[in-house]
Amino acid sequence: MYEEELNDSNVFYRDVKKTYPVIVRGEGVYLWDKDGNRYLDGCAGALVANIGHGVAEVAKAMAEQASQLGFAHGSRFTTPAQIGFARRIAEQAPGSLKKVYFISGGSEATESALKLARQYYLERDKKSQKYKIIARWHSYHGNTIGALSMSGHAPRRRKYQPLLCSFPHIPACYCYRCEFGLTYPGCQLRCAYALEDAIKMEGPENIAAFIAETVVGAAAGALVPPPEYYRIIREICDRYDVLFIADEVMCGIGRTGKFFAIEHWGVVPDIIACAKGLGSGYTPLGAIIVKDEIWDVFKKGSGKFVHGHTYGGNPVSCATGCAVFDYLMEKGLVQNAAIMGDYLKKRLSEGLESNPIVGDVRGLGLMIGVELVKDKATKAPFDASQGVAEMATKACIKHGVVVYPGQGCADGVNGDQFLIGPPLCIRKSEVDELVEGVIAGLKDTAAELVG
Ligand SMILES: Cc1ncc(COP(=O)(O)O)c(C=O)c1O
Repeated sequence: MYEEELNDSNVFYRDVKKTYPVIVRGEGVYLWDKDGNRYLDGCAGALVANIGHGVAEVAKAMAEQASQLGFAHGSRFTTPAQIGFARRIAEQAPGSLKKVYFISGGSEATESALKLARQYYLERDKKSQKYKIIARWHSYHGNTIGALSMSGHAPRRRKYQPLLCSFPHIPACYCYRCEFGLTYPGCQLRCAYALEDAIKMEGPENIAAFIAETVVGAAAGALVPPPEYYRIIREICDRYDVLFIADEVMCGIGRTGKFFAIEHWGVVPDIIACAKGLGSGYTPLGAIIVKDEIWDVFKKGSGKFVHGHTYGGNPVSCATGCAVFDYLMEKGLVQNAAIMGDYLKKRLSEGLESNPIVGDVRGLGLMIGVELVKDKATKAPFDASQGVAEMATKACIKHGVVVYPGQGCADGVNGDQFLIGPPLCIRKSEVDELVEGVIAGLKDTAAELVG
């Protein structure tokens, strides 16, 4: 049966030329394939399985909810699962971020934030022209057309360019490759002030929101802005009446060692988009968390957010999310992410220092990026056609660890990096195993590339 699946399956895979290992079981940080091979899931899928694989408590909560009530449509009903889960999220969210709108994943979350921002201004002022969303290059906000229009990851945009909305993009906060050729702190955060330039050029009357991944994930490998960055962003957004959307689809829900990554900067955005870790891979689940002040405008206005997806607030997904939350809190996994993250980054930085193709090791908590370069001194990237990130990933898998590769971070075409983001339940001995697998994988990759 498995051979048939591999060679003659009905599945339309992401890469129809590739053969995928058949994964049949997961427990903690490990996955097993049908042949009994064990993999250390060093990227929690795509930084999704935050609580780890195979948690029986979550499976039990899902089964109980499914046998009680599997579905009730959100346009006519609410459910205890939805109400309870929204309260749990609101308890964790900073400031007046207290209203939770449920969807099924990350692209739906950023797409919903985009539409909410647009409608918010129309509710406030019927004649409002505000509709554009400013985003950053080297970012990823999802693959639906609105989300991809905001995304600044050239390889994902290129084929769909004619279909995309013309949203402006400003330079990323990418200290290793500063677009202004500056160095922190002498730069005085020139990249943050680029937001003000863009708002003025486009006209503040046209700008509804600015969106940023608090810590950039798949597009550039764990870019962490300096401490002042989001305070400056917040001030600029306030000055020009522009909403600030923090995309925490990947970096939220404990991943960086705080519940929401933006807490590291002590700033409160107007909307937080989250997904991935929210359901921890047990169920498709996403949410936008919205400030009370925005909700009030809808309450006093039409009352209706003209949007919605069939599975938003699905009771099984919400019950799953609640069980994931319970587990995350009871096991102290957010704190563990902070402690293990520091240890992981230190060990990787030390262990990869002498590797000739490792340009940078960066990140926050259990969200670490490793950038690969042809020349460490000039930071010249490998040619994209060499597929170095993919090559490194394959080499790591040979050593039993899975990482999450990406391309295009240097100039939109070239530039290889990969993310390391294991489940937050990882133990010290498992971090050691992960680090050793990555060091060995990159040693093989370097040997193949530079001899
Ligand atoms: C920051 C960010 N936003 C949005 C998305 C899109 O999420 P999804 O794949 O669930 O649609 C992703 C996915 O990787 C992401 O990392």
